[in-house]
Amino acid sequence: MIVIEQDIETEAERLFRALLHVDCEPGRTWDFEACRRIAPLTLEINQLKRERGAIILAHSYVEPEIIYGVADFKGDSYYLSLQAKQAQAKMIVFAGVVFMAETAKILSPQATVVVPDRASGCSLADALNGVELRRLKSLYPDAAVVCYINSTAEVKAESDVCVTSGNVYDIIQKLPERRILFVPDRLMAENIRTELRRRGVDKEIISSDGTCIVHDKFDAAQIADARNRFPGLKVVAHPECPPDVAAAADFVGSTGAMMRYVKTTSAPYFLMLTECGLVGRLQVEAPEKHFIGGCRLCPYMKLNSLEKVRDALLAMPAALLAARHVAVAEVFRRRDPRLKPAGVSEYW
Ligand code: 13P
Ligand code: SF4
Repeated sequence: MIVIEQDIETEAERLFRALLHVDCEPGRTWDFEACRRIAPLTLEINQLKRERGAIILAHSYVEPEIIYGVADFKGDSYYLSLQAKQAQAKMIVFAGVVFMAETAKILSPQATVVVPDRASGCSLADALNGVELRRLKSLYPDAAVVCYINSTAEVKAESDVCVTSGNVYDIIQKLPERRILFVPDRLMAENIRTELRRRGVDKEIISSDGTCIVHDKFDAAQIADARNRFPGLKVVAHPECPPDVAAAADFVGSTGAMMRYVKTTSAPYFLMLTECGLVGRLQVEAPEKHFIGGCRLCPYMKLNSLEKVRDALLAMPAALLAARHVAVAEVFRRRDPRLKPAGVSEYW
C-alpha cells in the first residue's frame, strides 16, 4: 500500500487525540512520535479492512492502539458479537480471545471469523471441556446447566442457558429449577450465591473449578489499604473476583457496567479491580477521573497486536480456528438441526 507523508501526519494526529491520556507503559503516556510510528500500520489495517469487507471487534482489555486505532466496535464480548451480527459483516477479526471469536461465529454463522493469535485462550474457558461437563451433568441430572459466556462453544452446546456477567443474577433467578449447575467460574458462582441470598431467592448453585487468572488474584487487604491511603476512594470490581473482594467493593459489575459506574459517579479516586485495559479505555473516555492501583494484565488478551491484526487480515483464511469446527457446529445442531454455519466443514 502506498501512503504519503501527509496521510501519516493526519493519521498520527487522529491517534494522538485519542491516546494522549493513556499510559503506554507505566508512568509514560502516548506521545506524538509514538503515534507517528504506528500510523502507517493503522492506515494499512483500515485499508485492508475496507478491501475485505471486514470489521474489527476489540474487547476493552486489548491494547488501546487496537481499540482506538482500528476497531469498529469496542466493549464486552457479547455486545461485540451482537454488533457484528447487526453489521452483517463478511469477515470478523476478533481482537480478544478464542472463546469470544466462537461466540461471534455462533451469532454470525455466515461470516468468516478470525483471531489475531490462536494461542489467545482464557483460563476460565479452558478450565472445562465438553467431556467434563457431560460428567457433571450426569451427577446432577435435575439441575439447569448455566454457562458463563467465558466458555468454549463445546460447553455452550452442552448448556441450557448462556449468561453474561451483566445478566447472570436475573436469569438464574427466573429459571424454574432450584438446582443450578453453573460453569466454569467457581468465584462467580460464589458471588451468585451471595447475591441470590441477598435477594431472598432459594437456589442451590453447584459449580466447576475454573477461575480467571486476572481477577482471582485481587484481595480484600489491598482494598482496606487503599481506602486508608485515599479517602473518598470508590472501589469497582468485576464478579470474577473472589467473594470477599466483591463484598468490600462499592460496585460490582460487568466491564460495561463498571465503565458506566465510573463515568456517572463522582469520587476523587477509583480503584479498578479488573484487567488494566479497562482503565486505558476510561483514561480516553473519562480523562477527568483519577485511578490508583497497579496494572494487572491478561496474558491472553495481550497476545493481540496491530501487527497480528494486519496479518490476520492478510492471511485469511489461514488464520481460521480449524480445531474448533466440531464445537461450533454442535451449538448450531442444538439450536436447530437444519442450521449450519457457513464454511463449517472447511474451517470450523
Ligand atoms: P465482560 O467484559 O463480559 O464483563 O468480561 C470480562 C472478562 O474477563 C472477559 O474476558
Ligand atoms: Fe479469560 Fe480472565 Fe483473560 Fe478474561 S481476563 S480472557 S476471563 S483469563
